[in-house]
Amino acid sequence: MKIIYAKDYDSMSRKAANIISAQVILKPNSVLGLATGSSPIGIYKQLIEWYEKGDLDFSACHTVNLDEYVGLDKTNDQSYAYFMYHNFFKDININMENTNVPNGTNTDAAGECARYNKVIQDLGGIDIQLLGIGHNGHIGFNEPGIAFEKETHCVELTQKTIDANTRFFNSKEEVPTHAYTMGIKNIMNAKKILLVACGAEKAEILYRMVTGKIEPSVPASILQLHNDVTIVADEAALTVINEKAPYLIERLPSCNKK
Ligand code: F6R
Repeated sequence: MKIIYAKDYDSMSRKAANIISAQVILKPNSVLGLATGSSPIGIYKQLIEWYEKGDLDFSACHTVNLDEYVGLDKTNDQSYAYFMYHNFFKDININMENTNVPNGTNTDAAGECARYNKVIQDLGGIDIQLLGIGHNGHIGFNEPGIAFEKETHCVELTQKTIDANTRFFNSKEEVPTHAYTMGIKNIMNAKKILLVACGAEKAEILYRMVTGKIEPSVPASILQLHNDVTIVADEAALTVINEKAPYLIERLPSCNKK
């Protein structure tokens, strides 16, 4: 695992965007595995900026997102499809037909999961998978559990997640209780993994993910077994690694500035 130091969120975003950008330049028809959440927003902004400058062309790219809430369609502003469109796709020259997010409106869970696995397979796999990490070590919606779920599956959301989401909906009935997510096998099959983490609240889990035992109680720990993982994290998220295993952190020359 390569761990790259970034001073702050902006610097993390730019360094991670550089890696995705290199991927798209070297292989214009790349399959990009994408994530939602607060961590990648700055990356998408940076990629949009470089696209607008004429440095990037997404017209031949395909994308596959990690996850989606069951029951929400792409017009719902809480859906991940809506997030991707508004934070990234609408501002670049990607063909929307080349973008994929699990279909939250498909009530046939087994059918939807099988369909999504086939989408990934038919594309020839994922060239680079962007990931954030949850405080509990989750990646995608693969929550800590007794077994690593392999491929796309339907997860029941924890009461904590449901309660936290309630504020975004008009009534309790509208709050999603399930989500579709790529499984650990889909993620591990990606040729490259790029994980970004920011903020002090990610410091302990990042340390456990990188140096701890590989176990389902920390789903991201499985990434230790992948042979091409790059982590870009800001100073706050790196505090525990910096304290206990500073030699793991790579500081690129440009880090003198940012
Ligand atoms: C998002 C996803 C989640 C997030 C994780 C971190 O598609 O699958 O695993 O990456 O919850 O979220 P943020 O970036 O908001 O801290």
